[in-house]
Amino acid sequence: MKVLVIGSGGREHGLAWKIAQSSLVEQVYVAPGNAGTASEPGVENVSIDAMDFEGLLEFVQMNEVGLTVVGPEDPLVGGIVDRFKLAGSTCFGPDQWSAQLEGSKSFTKNFLKKYEIPTGDCEVFEESEAAIAYLSERSPPFVIKADGLAAGKGVVIAQDLDEAIDAVRGMLSGNLLGDAGSRIVIEEFLEGEEVSFIVLADGNNFLPFASSQDHKAAFDGDNGPNTGGMGAYSPAPVITPEIHDRIVERIIRPTISGMQHEKHPYTGFLYAGLIIDKEGNPRVIEFNCRFGDPETQPVMMRLNSDLVELILAAIDGNLHQKTIEFAQESSLCVVIASGGYPGSYKKGMEIEGLQSVSGAKVFHAGTRMENGRVVTSGGRVLGVTALGDDISSAQEKAYLALSGIRFKKLQFRRDIGHRAIAREKVGD
Ligand code: AMP
Ligand code: GLY
Repeated sequence: MKVLVIGSGGREHGLAWKIAQSSLVEQVYVAPGNAGTASEPGVENVSIDAMDFEGLLEFVQMNEVGLTVVGPEDPLVGGIVDRFKLAGSTCFGPDQWSAQLEGSKSFTKNFLKKYEIPTGDCEVFEESEAAIAYLSERSPPFVIKADGLAAGKGVVIAQDLDEAIDAVRGMLSGNLLGDAGSRIVIEEFLEGEEVSFIVLADGNNFLPFASSQDHKAAFDGDNGPNTGGMGAYSPAPVITPEIHDRIVERIIRPTISGMQHEKHPYTGFLYAGLIIDKEGNPRVIEFNCRFGDPETQPVMMRLNSDLVELILAAIDGNLHQKTIEFAQESSLCVVIASGGYPGSYKKGMEIEGLQSVSGAKVFHAGTRMENGRVVTSGGRVLGVTALGDDISSAQEKAYLALSGIRFKKLQFRRDIGHRAIAREKVGD
């Protein structure tokens, strides 16, 4: 069959790479893709924007594409699955209503409350005076979130009241984030270790992917501004088998059955961003209605099962008949970003040294071809991903592999995996 992957980031390169390996697949298209997907065997880019639903649908119909897999949240929140369904075309992901789990923080908070799924306490505000009065009665750190999608920029963790008030005013005045910030959520600060727990769901059943963890902060030591993710690894050693079971029973199962109860069974990838506290209890920070980026890259490297077979089973509601297999090895991805990211940065820098990489897979994100050269075109540029016997050895291989890659003003973190490696050292 022919498969279309929608999106252009590292996640989509990871998904397209894995989908192209399926024995069920003769051709993968990526819309719009990047320089990495353009040169991947069995994969071809098509120049259609991820939000151009009519253009995508026309392409799918003209080229007899049997399955569309959506990478990013915007098309899902915008209702691409509903639109494809109306046209009788198979598009894997949650419908628009269900995608509110990512698209609206207040929707999610109400859902979590209704189904008694553990999360931080919170209040929703549309007026700054009420929000400020609420903050004044509490102590820092304060977590202030824009209700809508804000590309990772909608969360402020304020260490004092002044900073919190600035964030509230900035969001609610509409200057900072536009419509996404016209309603805000003020949330209890959750202490613990953050993990990504992603499952494949068929509306009724689900299969968990291997656990993973990403590094959201821009700089070493988890300092600096929040980014989309500067690196990730799998598995997340903080998730012991016991904690795994707690996540499944307390978070994932009630979420899937809650969505069923709401008459919108959830089909697609469901990403739970969780905090695991000192006692090993998980609480939800956020849901995403898609795979993680950069979590996709290390998780796909470890996935031994045929992803397309699993996705088709999920679409048919047959996941209970399937199992999912992962390599015993660990995997780690280091993101190379443009200097200045997540603030402003220059594009169009020529990337050198890609041919000489060995011992790792380089997934592209913000790259494009220009006169036969690969140049930068985004904040996160590449995800160098390696497998190893443990996280320490995967880390060593990833950093060795990326040492020959160069472009002007590149930046990357030198400590991806540090928490997992500290745990491995204690275990030695
Ligand atoms: P979100 O967009 O909701 O995922 O938030 C972005 C990041 O902010 C998360 O990945 C966490 O690192 C942090 N964060 C969000 N909410 C909380 C919270 N309630 N307590 C602690 N950290 C949080
Ligand atoms: N790495 C975080 C995310 O995909 O949202």
